[in-house]
Amino acid sequence: MCGIFAYVGGRKDAISLVRDGLKQLEYRGYDSWGIAYPKNEIALLKEVGHIPDKILEEPSSLALGHTRWATHGGVTRLNAHPHLSSNKKIAVAHNGIIENFEQVVSKYDLDMKTKTDSEVIPLLIEYFLEQSYSFEESVRRSLQELEGTFAIVAISSAHKELIVARLGSPLIIGETKDGFFVSSDIPALLGHTKKVLVLNDGEMAILSGSLELKNFYENVSLDPSFIEIDWDVSTAEKSGYKHFMLKEIMEQPKTILDTLQGRIKDHQPLLPELEGINPKRIIIIACGTSWHAGIVGEFLLEGLAKIPVEVEYASEFRYRDPLVEKDTLVVAISQSGETADTLAALREAKKKGAKVLSICNVMESTIARESDIVLYTRAGPEMGVASTKAFITQLTLLYLITAHYASKNKTLSVRQVQDMCDDVLSLPRYIEQVLDEKGQIEEIAKEYFESRNALFLGRGIHYPIALEGALKLKEISYIHAEGYPAAEMKHGPIALIDVNMPSIFIATRDTHTYEKVLSNMQEVRARGGKIIALATSGDRRVTELADHIISLPRTRYALSPFLVTIPLQLFAYYIADLRDCNIDKPRNLAKSVTVE
Ligand code: M6R
Repeated sequence: MCGIFAYVGGRKDAISLVRDGLKQLEYRGYDSWGIAYPKNEIALLKEVGHIPDKILEEPSSLALGHTRWATHGGVTRLNAHPHLSSNKKIAVAHNGIIENFEQVVSKYDLDMKTKTDSEVIPLLIEYFLEQSYSFEESVRRSLQELEGTFAIVAISSAHKELIVARLGSPLIIGETKDGFFVSSDIPALLGHTKKVLVLNDGEMAILSGSLELKNFYENVSLDPSFIEIDWDVSTAEKSGYKHFMLKEIMEQPKTILDTLQGRIKDHQPLLPELEGINPKRIIIIACGTSWHAGIVGEFLLEGLAKIPVEVEYASEFRYRDPLVEKDTLVVAISQSGETADTLAALREAKKKGAKVLSICNVMESTIARESDIVLYTRAGPEMGVASTKAFITQLTLLYLITAHYASKNKTLSVRQVQDMCDDVLSLPRYIEQVLDEKGQIEEIAKEYFESRNALFLGRGIHYPIALEGALKLKEISYIHAEGYPAAEMKHGPIALIDVNMPSIFIATRDTHTYEKVLSNMQEVRARGGKIIALATSGDRRVTELADHIISLPRTRYALSPFLVTIPLQLFAYYIADLRDCNIDKPRNLAKSVTVE
């Protein structure tokens, strides 16, 4: 969603630094952009649409920029950030929502020109400046008036400072020898520095040649604690691939190994974070792709570790007054760690006394910071809006957590747990084999890229992967796709089957529902439907029923969801590419969904 990038320091190319930073934030999704920098008044560049490759060059050592994903007010140049005060001497970029902006406008009699909630901030700062407060104090007093969520960056044409603040929306400061960068996320900073300070809620920083950190409610100074990020800058670049999505699909063997690093020892799971946590019940909360990972987790944890599990849409969990007993562990899964629905559900769970374990990819993200225990997926920055490598690493952690509790609860023998650990270490090799066959999947995509609808069908532990296959296809290719447990097809969706409707079946031999899936394939075939089947290599029975086969290496049940995921990601990717879609930045979507 919206992104902020800003610079203050010794360099004179602040405008192009900020433009480049905004380009790095493009993957989050946006519909307009803007940059502000001080002159006599504030100079402003802003437009609806894409950030241009070339931008006005004017020397400046201070600039702030914003990419907007519209919430309040339409997609117009006027509503694009940064917003200015009435005298055009203050500029503010804002992420989040100011819930009480109407009350503030009437309390201070402010003259709003745009349809955004954000404009209230520069107007309020101007109001306090006119009462003879300093710039810093005017910003601080303004922040105290605001309710809702925000990350803000403010500049004034009369001061060589950048003032930033956070309440509920992420904001990161990066330190270099030439000055400070400010960004909504870490990947955009990696080209400049790995030394970052993640602002906490209620904190503001005054940045010029130095940094001063404060709590803006109490006006007390704080010690900044910078951390070193271990992500590599190349992970946030395309490295010769046409799209981030393809690069990230291809990276999956490596990301699985990164996730497992140091977490298996002597053929046993090593998750010290879980010591002393012995849940009687687990509730998994997540959204979108992470929710699909959660359902795979349900099959693994219930089936192998024998712990009752429920998987809830985070957005529903929060509002239905759920029962959370003592000894319930709530597991929040989120790639970004900033998803507003998941964060709100996590807070609700904590309010009800649950311990929260989060599975996150982004270090120091809000969900990670508010959880009792965090397991990082270590997928590296995921730049494609469609989640691929983050999903596979979520599955990897859920698999390891299962092995941990299966060992602890003695629901599997020592030997079986050892097999689980050995198997997952060999998984990257199998995934490489599937990736090597990507040309074959591209050929199949060529036959179906003009389809208008598609069904994804699988049973048992493959059912969430069918849902994920459908989500991948619809979000990047805009083809309407539905995922179903295969048996449910005959309770409605079968009415849609005809020669124009491809069904993608997950029909590998590694689950006990294999025979049943074959029957479901017969039902589609009998109605003239086209079938693409994911089958275990050498399976003649599936070959006879399907129009196209994607062969997969034979594997064990618990690893099967990993393997079947890969061809579905590639299928969605090639279809979207053939349709010439904006794969890394699909329309209307945002990488990190920070509104409820
Ligand atoms: O960052 P999160 O994992 O919390 O995001 C949840 C969903 O918004 C996300 O998985 C979304 O469905 C992706 N676009 C899927 O590719």
